[in-house]
Amino acid sequence: MSNAPVKVAVTGAAGQICYSLLFRIASGALLGPTQPVELRLLEITPALKALEGVVMELDDCAFPLLSSVEIGDDATQVFDGVNLAMLVGARPRSKGMERSDLLEANGAIFTAQGKALNDHAADDVKVLVTGNPANTNALIAMTNAPDIPHHRFNALTRLDHNRALTQVAQKAGVPVAEVTHMTIWGNHSATQYPDLFHTEISGRNAAEVIDDQAWVEQDFLPTVQKRGAAIIEARGASSAASAANATVEHMRDWVTGTPEGDWISMAVPSDGSYGVPEGLISSFPCTVTDGEYSIVQGLEIDDFSRGKIDATVAELAEERDAVRSLGLI
Ligand code: NAD
Ligand code: LMR
Repeated sequence: MSNAPVKVAVTGAAGQICYSLLFRIASGALLGPTQPVELRLLEITPALKALEGVVMELDDCAFPLLSSVEIGDDATQVFDGVNLAMLVGARPRSKGMERSDLLEANGAIFTAQGKALNDHAADDVKVLVTGNPANTNALIAMTNAPDIPHHRFNALTRLDHNRALTQVAQKAGVPVAEVTHMTIWGNHSATQYPDLFHTEISGRNAAEVIDDQAWVEQDFLPTVQKRGAAIIEARGASSAASAANATVEHMRDWVTGTPEGDWISMAVPSDGSYGVPEGLISSFPCTVTDGEYSIVQGLEIDDFSRGKIDATVAELAEERDAVRSLGLI
């Protein structure tokens, strides 16, 4: 990567995720210790004053890699020439709300932002959607950006991936770094399928090491699937620092590559792999080389996993049909 600043757009910049995310990006956690970054921050008009306060704090960190910060409420200006776009801004779920309730509220944001990226972003733009419902918002943005290749639109399931790694490490009593080859399949929602059957603990099959199917079904799966709601219940607000961390890790790995011999979970437009209908933005095991991801091929899917993958993919298809009927795609 050259030493010219990389232009990184972030939306929802005055929100709680960004209060962690922006400082991680500016400190070098995203693109490494030698790559300058230019932050381009989008907010809605009433939040611009709060965003000015966040920018004052960024200034007060004197980050050597932060070359400049621009803020605004006009996506066409903020997205001008951006290389990376992290779409975080959306209304978060509050207690008792399901993600489906958010489809309509948040869908309009992603049509406008998809169009603005299409017309103004750099040719090499990579777009990662964190704002919920993340998979379907990414589908809306992608569909509204016909000139940007589909594979440049991803959604975030890395937080689910990280949650699953820790649950497995704690159950097995091993350091989290010993847990590899985790896969989240499907939607970033309570239907997601965290797959233990291809996961490894110190190079051995995790399902065999743990050897406790009751724990898998009654503890592991629901804990990971409902972790977002559990955090909302406990904190009174949705996950923020861990979501920011996952957003950084996904984009970092997409730009700089995945660890040798392992894979990560990324929600990407399906090419039909593993029976997931083409075009749905669904989470798969992926590796990244030279800035391009590939879906890991050839994993055996048993009947248990097949049923779980089919259920979460069916939810994605329902969400797609709902936003289609709302005229958003
Ligand atoms: P927040 O309410 O603190 O911040 C959201 C910000 O987005 C607000 O400042 C709001 O003004 C702004 N915003 C709203 N519409 C916008 C628009 N059109 N353009 C630009 N900015 C806009 O919420 P948060 O806690 O930071 O969460 C942000 C989103 O991330 C929510 O949708 C939340 O559900 C989601 N989330 C996703 C994951 C994941 O793993 N995918 C994890 C946690 C949270
Ligand atoms: C999460 O997984 O923490 C977020 O997506 C918040 C939510 O609404 O579940």
